Amino acid sequence: MFLVSIFMRIHYIAAACVMPAALGAVDGVSYYNDIRPLLQVHCSGCHQAANKMGGLEITSYAGILKGGAKYGSSIAKGTPENSPLLNLVTGKLEPRMPMGGTALSPDVIELITTWVREGAEDDTPVEAKAPQVPAQPPKYAQAPTITGMSYSPDGSLLAVGGFHEVLLLNADGSGIEARLLGRSDKIHSIDFSDDGTRLVAIGGTPARFGEVQVWDLQSRDLVHSVTATSDTLFAGDLSPDGKRAVFGAADKTVRMVDLETGDELFKAGHHEDWVLQAVFGIDGERIVSISRDRAAKLADADTGAFLENVNFLRDKLYAVARHPRRDYVLIGGEDRVPYMYTMDRPRALKIADDSTLIRKFEEQAGKIFALAFSPDGSRVAVGGVADEVPIYDTETAKRVATCKGHQGGIFVIAFHPDGSRLSTGGFDGMVRSYDARTGEQLVSFVPVPIERAESSVDPEGTD
Ligand code: HEC
Repeated sequence: MFLVSIFMRIHYIAAACVMPAALGAVDGVSYYNDIRPLLQVHCSGCHQAANKMGGLEITSYAGILKGGAKYGSSIAKGTPENSPLLNLVTGKLEPRMPMGGTALSPDVIELITTWVREGAEDDTPVEAKAPQVPAQPPKYAQAPTITGMSYSPDGSLLAVGGFHEVLLLNADGSGIEARLLGRSDKIHSIDFSDDGTRLVAIGGTPARFGEVQVWDLQSRDLVHSVTATSDTLFAGDLSPDGKRAVFGAADKTVRMVDLETGDELFKAGHHEDWVLQAVFGIDGERIVSISRDRAAKLADADTGAFLENVNFLRDKLYAVARHPRRDYVLIGGEDRVPYMYTMDRPRALKIADDSTLIRKFEEQAGKIFALAFSPDGSRVAVGGVADEVPIYDTETAKRVATCKGHQGGIFVIAFHPDGSRLSTGGFDGMVRSYDARTGEQLVSFVPVPIERAESSVDPEGTD
C-alpha cells in the first residue's frame, strides 16, 4: 500500500504536469509549465537523448533551439510560420509530427504557436535546470523511506539510499564511512560489483529524469551518470561480470547500460505497464523482468529480444529475485503469494500453462514489495505491506523464522554475504538487522544523521 501510494504520487505529479495551465487562455504561455510537458508527452519518446530521431532532442530548451539534422533550430523566435517544429505538427512539412501518431489538437498547436510568437522564452526555474549534485550532504529532519540497500561483497559495508545520496555504512550500523552525493532524489536499487570495486545506484527524480550512477569505491568518484527516460528508474541488477546493468522503467521498457562506457545498449518494450524490477540469469545471457502488467518476461541479455513468458498471469508483480545458484526466479506482488519459477520451460508454451512453476510459498498478510534469496539459496525472505518478514526454507517452503518489529511497508531485504544476517528497510526509514536463522532482531538504526534544523529537505523529495 505504501509503495503504491508512492507510485500514485509519482503518477499524480506526472499527470499534473501534462495539464497545460494556459489552455484556452493563450496569453503569456510558459515554456516550463505549458510547452515542456506537452512535448514530453507527445514527442520525447522519439526525441530524447537516448534516441534522437532526426538528430533532435526535444526534452530540453537547449535541444529545441539546437534543433535537428534537416532544419537546424526547430523554432524561429517570434515567427511561428518559420518554425520547423510548428510546420511539422500542422502538416505543412512532412512527415507530420508526432510521426505515425495522432495529430496534436488545434488547442495545443495554438498554445505552441503563441509561445513562439511571444518570443519562445525559456522560463525554466533555476533550480529545475540541470539537476545538480548538492554541494553539501543533505540535512534530514526525519529518516527518509528506504528503497535501496545492499551489502558489499566482503560484508564490511551496508549501502543505503537516502535523499540525493547513497550512504556507505559500517555493516554493523556503527557509523557512516562515506556519503556518495548524486543528482537523483531517490535510489531504487543498489548493487556492488562482485569484486567490490564498483557500486551501481539506480533511481531518479519523479517526473524529471531517471539515472544510473556508477561509483568507483576506491576513489569514491562518480564514474558515470547515465540518464534515461523522463521519470525515475526502478530496480535493477548487475551482470555476473559486473559490466552491464539491467533495470526497469516507468515508460514500460527494460533497459541495459554498459557500465564501462555509460552507453545504453538497448531498451526493450515487451511490457504493457511499469517495469518495476529486472534480474540477470546465472550466466548473464538472459534477463527476467517483472511488471504491473502481471507478467514475468524472459529476454535475451544481448539484444533485449523477447524469449517467452515465465509465469502464468495472475496479478500485478512488484518484485523478483534470482536464485544464487540456479536459473530460478522468485516473483511476487499484488496477490501476496511468492511463486518460484524456472527460467527454462520444460516443454512448449501453452496458453495458461504453469509448467514452469516450481513452488508456491505461504500467502502473505499483505502485498509483496521485496524478495531475497540467502547467499547459498537455501532460504528466501519476503517483505511488503505486512509488518513482518518471514524466512522460508527454499526446498520445503516451510517458514523457518520470522523477523518482526517493522512499522509500515518493507521495500528492501538484503542478506549479509555470509548468510548469517539479513537487513530490511522501508517506509519508516529504519534499518533492522536480524539473525537469519532465528529471526531475532540484532540491531536497528536510522541510517542518516538526523538534525533538528529549520531548513531541512523534504525527505520524500517530491519537489
Ligand atoms: C514515433 C517517433 C516520433 C515522434 C513521436 C515524434 N517524432 Fe519528430 N521525428 C521523428 C523522425 C523519425 C524524424 C526525422 C524525419 C525525417 O527527417 O524524415 C523526426 C523529425 C522531427 C523534426 C525535424 C528535425 C530536423 O531538423 O531534422 C522535428 C522538429 C520534430 N521531429 C518534432 C517533433 C515534435 C514536435 C513531436 C511531438 C509533437 C515529434 N517530433 C514526435 C520521429 C518522431
